[in-house]
Amino acid sequence: MFILAAAGSAVGLGNIWKFPYITGENGGGAFVLMYLVCILAIGIPIMMAEIMLGRRGRKSPINTMRDLAAADGLNPAWGLLGWMGVLAGVLILSYYSVIAGWALAYVFRAGAGLFNGLDAKGVGDLFGGLVGSPEKLLAWHSIFMFMTMLVVAQGVKNGLEKAVRWLMPMLFVLMLVMVGYAMNTGAFDKGLDFLFSMRFGEVFHACETIDGTQICEFSWQPLLIAMGHAFFTLSLGMGAIMVYGSYMPKRASIAAASIWIAIADTSVALLAGMAIFPIVFANGLEPGSGPGLIFQTLPLAFGHMPYGQLFGTLFFVLLVFAAWTSAISLIEPAVAWLVENRGYSRLRASVVSGVIVWLVGIGTVFSFNLWSGDQYKLFGKTFFDLLDFLTANIMLPLGGVLIAIFAGWLMSRAASEDELKLAHPALYVTWRFLVRFITPLAVFIVMLNALGVF
Ligand code: PHE
Repeated sequence: MFILAAAGSAVGLGNIWKFPYITGENGGGAFVLMYLVCILAIGIPIMMAEIMLGRRGRKSPINTMRDLAAADGLNPAWGLLGWMGVLAGVLILSYYSVIAGWALAYVFRAGAGLFNGLDAKGVGDLFGGLVGSPEKLLAWHSIFMFMTMLVVAQGVKNGLEKAVRWLMPMLFVLMLVMVGYAMNTGAFDKGLDFLFSMRFGEVFHACETIDGTQICEFSWQPLLIAMGHAFFTLSLGMGAIMVYGSYMPKRASIAAASIWIAIADTSVALLAGMAIFPIVFANGLEPGSGPGLIFQTLPLAFGHMPYGQLFGTLFFVLLVFAAWTSAISLIEPAVAWLVENRGYSRLRASVVSGVIVWLVGIGTVFSFNLWSGDQYKLFGKTFFDLLDFLTANIMLPLGGVLIAIFAGWLMSRAASEDELKLAHPALYVTWRFLVRFITPLAVFIVMLNALGVF
């Protein structure tokens, strides 16, 4: 049950919507490799650390961090880590909900047969008609936030967790069907080549043509984005996994759970990439076309495959479900804190935090229409881009590193050894080495370089 709930949090828009479009924007294969290395060397060890802290603290992240710090005679300021997580969750959900709203809108477009026989231009127009309209986006964003608050308020969580049990495998099977379709597009090889061939030169070098000569410079950006995405896709660094860890029974294996969650999460992302890029190349689309990528490619497949209307509807329903289970975990740290520390009822806590998230989300709604012009951009980024960059690439890795430092340096060796109960001493030593040295160093080196501090 714990694995299912945590996998429900991990598998979401990050895998099916975000992974393909950032892979497309960052040149493909080498980016995918960096992402996989980050999952293995940073994501899995930090997930183990975060679950462990949650299970020891057994409270909402803010109180868990404060209690654990107090128990070890450390500064209560560690509670701030919980606060940063609450803030990150609220900010992420504010745009996550807008994108989930797109998926919700597409359930009805697919169901009504609007994709049937469409070409690339038709699909592009359909997408443009949705994101160009602030009213439509606001309406779908509101519906999705309402759905999220409903579950969080009632704690129907149980029901939803049971649903995850069969919806998740269904999503997996449907992704396989999509990959099967992609095999017949005639560009499957090209898609796989894009995803899995290393072209380090292109990825690491940001090239510019100045006065007719091409000047290339080493760029840390793609590495920062790959690393940030490892945190985002595994729901790490903001307390979501800590909350689930607090429900985990003492005897369950933290390492096994972490590895299973990472495997499930990564497979869904890779399948999404294998389904989407062949369609991109077969239709002469642009891999780096941004956040609309899946909404401009998959409808082409549904519009031309047998039973496409049915599969299309089912796909977007499952995508909404996947986003829903992630959204709940994004807001849970905030709600849990309001209930524990402020004495709010769950209903009141959900409404208060949900309304704040909804309001911030309006900035993202406008990023795709009213505020998409250059005069509304900061560092060339829209409100949505800025929020995504700040949360996924800065706040989550920072939160993750603090969790790693806490678990690796401040908690006693005996305590973590006892919690993790790894089958082999060498495994424990490896974990401890990764969280003590590799994770903090890697995150700081990548972050400071990419932000231009070095
Ligand atoms: N992991 C989720 C996804 O990939 C997003 C998420 C991030 C959820 C952080 C909770 C915490 O869609």
